[in-house]
Amino acid sequence: MAYIKIFDTTLRDGEQSPGVALNTSEKIEIARQLARLGVDVIEAGFPIASDGDFQAVRAIANAIDQESNKVVVAGLARANQKDIERAAEAVEKAKNPRIHTFIATSPIHMEKKLQLPPDRVVEKAIEAVSVARSFVDDVEFSAEDAGRSDWDFLVRIFTEAVKVGATTINIPDTVGYMMPWEYGEMVRYIHDRLPNIANITLSTHCHDDLGCAVINSLAGVKNGATQVECTINGIGERAGNASLEEIVMALNTRKDFWEHETGIVTRELYRSSRLVSSYTGMVVPPNKAVVGDNAFAHESGIHQDGVIKALETYEIMSAETVGRNAGVLVMGKHSGRNAFRKTLAELGYENLADDKINALFKQFKDLADAKQSVTAEDIRALVDAETAKVPETYRLEHLQFQSGVNMTPSAVVRLRTPEGDFEAAATGDGPVDASFKALKTLTPLPFKLESYDLKAIGSGTDALGEVSIRVNSEGQIVHGRAISTDVVQASVLAYVDVLNKLAAGVGRLRVHPQKTTMP
Ligand code: KIV
Ligand code: ZN
Repeated sequence: MAYIKIFDTTLRDGEQSPGVALNTSEKIEIARQLARLGVDVIEAGFPIASDGDFQAVRAIANAIDQESNKVVVAGLARANQKDIERAAEAVEKAKNPRIHTFIATSPIHMEKKLQLPPDRVVEKAIEAVSVARSFVDDVEFSAEDAGRSDWDFLVRIFTEAVKVGATTINIPDTVGYMMPWEYGEMVRYIHDRLPNIANITLSTHCHDDLGCAVINSLAGVKNGATQVECTINGIGERAGNASLEEIVMALNTRKDFWEHETGIVTRELYRSSRLVSSYTGMVVPPNKAVVGDNAFAHESGIHQDGVIKALETYEIMSAETVGRNAGVLVMGKHSGRNAFRKTLAELGYENLADDKINALFKQFKDLADAKQSVTAEDIRALVDAETAKVPETYRLEHLQFQSGVNMTPSAVVRLRTPEGDFEAAATGDGPVDASFKALKTLTPLPFKLESYDLKAIGSGTDALGEVSIRVNSEGQIVHGRAISTDVVQASVLAYVDVLNKLAAGVGRLRVHPQKTTMP
């Protein structure tokens, strides 16, 4: 069976999704989960992009070391000395560092964007790979917009890259333009002409502009690619990248067809999807394959009858295989700290610090008081929210709201701040709107709410509500999220999360005492 490497670029190409901006601790948590998921390569970021990106890649390189000693941590660099040096510095602490360098090869990109003749592009690729090889043994070279490039030119530039030490050759369909047969044929063309192909990893990297990212990647695998670049939930630039979970489950469910395997621990897929969705604020559509809410739901009577008699009648893979067995835990409000710690370990959270466990235990107790049964999914949501928390500069002290038929919704909010406690009241179009208006008078920082999403975790009227909001504060995108059995409270806590992130990130958020009603 051939081994197909899974190269995850959620933290680099995925983070290029419009409106997504992950902070370093969120990136580290996602990277840890990717290591648990068993990906072969984590592309941790584009270190030259900003100091924050550089620090995040560095932190991931360190963190992953403790999580797994087989995962490669890659940093992206354009084909120039400065980018490559910065990427090298960012990944230097990784056990298995990779530098991924790229240059565009399509006529339109070379002429219009780079304004370089093809010969010069080849020279720059050779220089870039050589410089990268002076830092690390593992160098990936990509031809940006390969999908619209001349195939013989690709063979030429890839051959030169291999000669100076590239170990992985990546063939991106950067603009999601290719059809599966065409992409497969191109991969085969390159595969059959590259020198030393037995020792080179040939890789796919497909975008989803025409909805073909997954099938194009699979066509690449069918034609000799042994690495697939993809993202959790398929997030990424414009329409996104190939979706990791779909590729993995296609290879896994149809092993009879592929005779290929990956190192992915499939029961971690759902958790990875939830984590990425919750941290990026990018909601997974209900009908999304493998991880969507409806992916294993059988609605029609005929189908329901079938699955009751035998699951395989309509299910080609089981929900458990991808980790969707939310399972009600036999833990109640009387469960002790040790039992809770044991449960966390069973769910895969073995390395949580004591202060985090204490904070989580308190939240678990509150939750067990508020709802009948606490599920594995609930616990995971608590852990995910807790682990990415920033220091608590602002805290919700009090929230009271009123709404109903034939009345104006209103809310009173009290906030603890470094300057003291402040309270404000407001009316609005609903209790969430009223609460946000009250909060706005307490924290008059100019930010615009760009999106608000509410999702139930589990089912039933006592389900936890997860609220995820995205704000734009003078060009800076910040996500806030929170969970609670009360959706208004979850909304307000998500707002407070934004305030804390702004305070931690820019330190210029101050409550206006003049606008408050109470010191
Ligand atoms: O889509 C693309 O071409 C890329 C490269 C940087 C690999 O993301
Ligand atoms: Zn890309």
